[in-house]
Amino acid sequence: GARYLLAALSTAGLVLAPIPASAADDGDHGPRFSPGSAGVGDPYFPLAGNGGIDVEHYDLELRYTPPAAEPAPLEGHLEGTATIDLEATEDLSRFNLDLRGLTVTEVEVDGRRATFTQQENELVVTPRRGLRDGKDVEVVVEYGGTTGRPLDATGALYGWVTTRDGAMVANEPDGAATWFPVNDHPTDKATFTFAVAVPEGLVVAANGLLVDRSTEDGLTTWLWDASEDLMAPYLATASIGNYRLSTSTAAGVPVIDAVDADLTEPNARQTAATLALTEDMLEFFEGIFGDYPFVAYGSIVDDDSVDYALETQTRSLFSLVADEATAAHELAHSWVGNAVSPERWSDIWLNEGWATYGEQLWTEHRGGRTAQQQFDALMRTPANDPLWTVRVGDPGAANMFAGAVYLRGAGTLHALRLRIGDDDFFDLAREWVGRYDGAAASTADFEALAEEVSGEDLDHFFDVWLRTATRPANW
Ligand code: ARG
Ligand code: ZN
Repeated sequence: GARYLLAALSTAGLVLAPIPASAADDGDHGPRFSPGSAGVGDPYFPLAGNGGIDVEHYDLELRYTPPAAEPAPLEGHLEGTATIDLEATEDLSRFNLDLRGLTVTEVEVDGRRATFTQQENELVVTPRRGLRDGKDVEVVVEYGGTTGRPLDATGALYGWVTTRDGAMVANEPDGAATWFPVNDHPTDKATFTFAVAVPEGLVVAANGLLVDRSTEDGLTTWLWDASEDLMAPYLATASIGNYRLSTSTAAGVPVIDAVDADLTEPNARQTAATLALTEDMLEFFEGIFGDYPFVAYGSIVDDDSVDYALETQTRSLFSLVADEATAAHELAHSWVGNAVSPERWSDIWLNEGWATYGEQLWTEHRGGRTAQQQFDALMRTPANDPLWTVRVGDPGAANMFAGAVYLRGAGTLHALRLRIGDDDFFDLAREWVGRYDGAAASTADFEALAEEVSGEDLDHFFDVWLRTATRPANW
């Protein structure tokens, strides 16, 4: 609050005047307040996330118009109001959020207009007064613009991907900034709520639970609540299409599937067969990793494609079809990747290796090749195969989703199982999720836990599997 000087006494009573800022300001424009950095310091994505802020909640109110009928270009129109509750974690004169390709028209901090500028990936917000370390504020950003089909560092579609009849929204690793202002790094998890308005007839499938839908003047607003669970921004989605929603319960978990009514055969049939297995899969992975960690699950299957599937939290996203192995993989990510997130993107093998190993265990469970047979096949891959030249413990931004990260990552886990034995290995799986649920953890954390659980020195083992660009021979 402002402080006042007793300025004068008059017959009218006490007259108060503000203390001039230069004389008695708290110092919140002073030298101890400095700008938050433009990134959290992740070497793969230097501008991802931001310094000095910790987001607690994103409330995203969006209005979306999909592309006009073909042959119009695949461009949509998005307008948004993002209300972001965040805490300053340093004395900040200003702070950044990540936002790319959309134009901001107004920013308020605690109800007062703030000044702002936009650079390529950064929205820079300067509040009227600096923010003290520990201060909670509400930041409201009004923004909008044209949506297209963004590409990630490897050339894959990601972010808000405009489709013929809606959008497929898949942010990994740094694509959340293509549709909302965000502290876009898995080390800053937050809760989310969504209110998305689309032309009547289209369906919005976001994270969490559907709480309401209402139609007015040809626009249907879909309210989704993901405020029970912490979520990394790259796992947020608000995909839009000609979906059929169906609700059920599996292993005590509410399941909401959104399957595109326009799927063709045999994809529609195969998808239905896969989704019928959700309960078995949930129970199977609970047996490995412990209780399912979120309030809900479900799948979005779009008749359009981003050429991959994504473990969007509580609502996995599939292109064209949900096949059984991929569905098992994405569900496994709920525990490994979503509940426990990578500390740095160089730790991506912890996501993909574990989810791939989960997929392999499911295949064995269903009477297919055993995990051992799949491991043996991997080890028969010729020594000069590109699979062996990637150091999966730090593969580089261009190789984050390379086959090696998935297969050598899974092989690392199977080899670890052979090395420390089944009891310790499955204890480790549970303890990994139990200890780091709701947080982010690193490869070093994993190595330390494996040594703790097994009581063995595993330095050489992990050097060979994660940090050597050759096919492992002696470990
Ligand atoms: N995490 C996804 C999966 O393996 C793959 C995401 C690929 N993303 C990308 N931007 N290339 O289930
Ligand atoms: Zn995966």
